[in-house]
Amino acid sequence: MAYPEEILEEIKARLDIVEVVREYVRLERRGRNFVGLCPFHSEKTASFTVSPEKQIFYCFGCGVGGDIFTFIRKIDNLDFPEAVRRLADKAGVRLPQEKGSFYNEQQWSQRQRLYQMHALAAKFYSLVLRGPEGEKARNYIRTRGIGEEIAKKFQLGYAPETPQALIKYLKGEGFQTEEILLAGLAVEREGGIHDRFRNRLMFPIWDHRGRVIGFGGRVLDAGLPKYVNSPETLLFRKGYHLYALHLASEAIRQQGFALIVEGYMDAIAAHEAGIENAVATMGTAFTPQQAKELRRFTSEAVIAYDADAAGQAATLRGLSILQEAGVKVRVLELPEGLDPDDFLKCKGARAFNEMVAGASSLIAYRLEQAIKTYGLRHEHSLAKVVAEVVPDIARIENAVERDGYIRLISKRIALPEQSIYEEVKKYIHKKDKEVRIRHTIAESKHNFIAGPDVQETFLLSAYIHDPALAQMIEGSLGEDFWECPECKFVRDEIKKLRFEKPGLAGDVLINLLEKEIGVASGLAIIARLKIQSDARVLFTPEAVKEAINRVRARNLHRLIKTKEQELAQAEISGAGRNIKELQEEIFRLQQELRLVRSGKEGVNFERGTAAKAANC
Ligand code: CTP
Ligand code: MN
Repeated sequence: MAYPEEILEEIKARLDIVEVVREYVRLERRGRNFVGLCPFHSEKTASFTVSPEKQIFYCFGCGVGGDIFTFIRKIDNLDFPEAVRRLADKAGVRLPQEKGSFYNEQQWSQRQRLYQMHALAAKFYSLVLRGPEGEKARNYIRTRGIGEEIAKKFQLGYAPETPQALIKYLKGEGFQTEEILLAGLAVEREGGIHDRFRNRLMFPIWDHRGRVIGFGGRVLDAGLPKYVNSPETLLFRKGYHLYALHLASEAIRQQGFALIVEGYMDAIAAHEAGIENAVATMGTAFTPQQAKELRRFTSEAVIAYDADAAGQAATLRGLSILQEAGVKVRVLELPEGLDPDDFLKCKGARAFNEMVAGASSLIAYRLEQAIKTYGLRHEHSLAKVVAEVVPDIARIENAVERDGYIRLISKRIALPEQSIYEEVKKYIHKKDKEVRIRHTIAESKHNFIAGPDVQETFLLSAYIHDPALAQMIEGSLGEDFWECPECKFVRDEIKKLRFEKPGLAGDVLINLLEKEIGVASGLAIIARLKIQSDARVLFTPEAVKEAINRVRARNLHRLIKTKEQELAQAEISGAGRNIKELQEEIFRLQQELRLVRSGKEGVNFERGTAAKAANC
């Protein structure tokens, strides 16, 4: 089924390619991009590159590249509609159920109409601001210290008292009542409809391309609610946009970082003071979508919320979101009770810029917050303080930088670096495992179409229950024969566990493994292994031998098929010498297959041969 462009765009807009790729590939920031080891070919140095700005990936090693859809298609071996469904699900985008469903063009043109309407509304409000009705608002703007130039740059406007001023204007421009309601510019009440914004100073809200997508409206006095904002519409979604981003993007690029404030007024005051890299979150804690918007332009940010807001849990979570999205965050701590606007007014731009320059890293900031909360008196409070900063430290990809922070913390709370280091290591290990498990589950779901490999799961049980059998299995088949990803994963983990804790019985190992991969695991295989371990009697050398032979037969069968294809090709292209060689080889393989199938060939049970086989 072909999906409308509009839907694909919507999915792309909601997801971040870096986050999606990260579920499969370990990425590190390098300049504007992220790099990692290519999942599509084997390599030792990272040439797989992901661009957050362009939302694409490209591997300089093997030349594979594309957008988020291409990536999912390739990595999970899906066709295009499957990839769209998978990502739509992730993005929370509803797909048209049937062919001919009427999301698509109608909605697309509706959006275009909404853009036009918003542009016109912004024009209308700014005209009113300059007219006789706008005097009160003009005065208010002046008292807030906003000059003519900045007022223009921010397209400030005024929504008049008249209940239907905007509605009338828009209707005159050819828009229908329903559309105006859909745009959130009017509200319905008691059968009638009137303008949503009345007697308010108007702040247009733009997307990063500078299209007006919504409005915030402030009262001109101390009335409540202080702000009325556009509701969620086809264009505007709370938490998805950063106020003034398109006005700030050039300065952000030039200065290498963004200044993030909370309010419309803070952003405007910053621009008024010549601080042009300021954007505002519009009162909500930072969201992943906003992080994605920001990362189009930079990977560094200084956050300047008022002191009380910055300490709040929601804000701290928001900052972690930024950090996780690969944006390096520093926190500017304003004196209690002052927001950036107030601070600029009473201390001036120079003092503010000094604060920006001296802003502390998120980790240092979080550390101080944790010390304030838990104190440093007892061992358990120390542990809590450390636990608070560990996730952020673990997220730092550069080892030198990471060590720097560990040193800093160690000094500040008088704890050996080694103990902090241990905690960070533990955390990273845990996270890595989660990623691997997620990947394994994704893969095995994909593989499930072909059915889980019965022979391999059986061999895996034997592998777990008897180290001698384990040696025999891999001795006959090699260490890399596992094709079922779940089996391979479990086998790797068991191998590690057995190395760390030698001499444990099979069922103990399985239980340990289950505990270790814990809740994140959806691995059906664990359940199966447990069931099989109840019937341990199964693992006789004969049964194992039979399973090994089946796997060998499977492999031989596959090899013969490939050789036959090569032979066909050689025959077409007439490569005479090759033909003969291939025929002989196929013959030999067929004989071997026959022997294996009859059970006469393949496995030698004497201890020691396994190791020998593995080494030769
Ligand atoms: N906000 C909102 N609705 C409210 C209060 C706040 O949407 N009722 C959002 C606005 O985007 C606002 C931001 O949260 O800009 C920060 O709130 P606040 O600090 O109260 O507003 P300021 O922009 O600082 O406005 P002012 O200086 O005029 O009080
Ligand atoms: Mn304010």
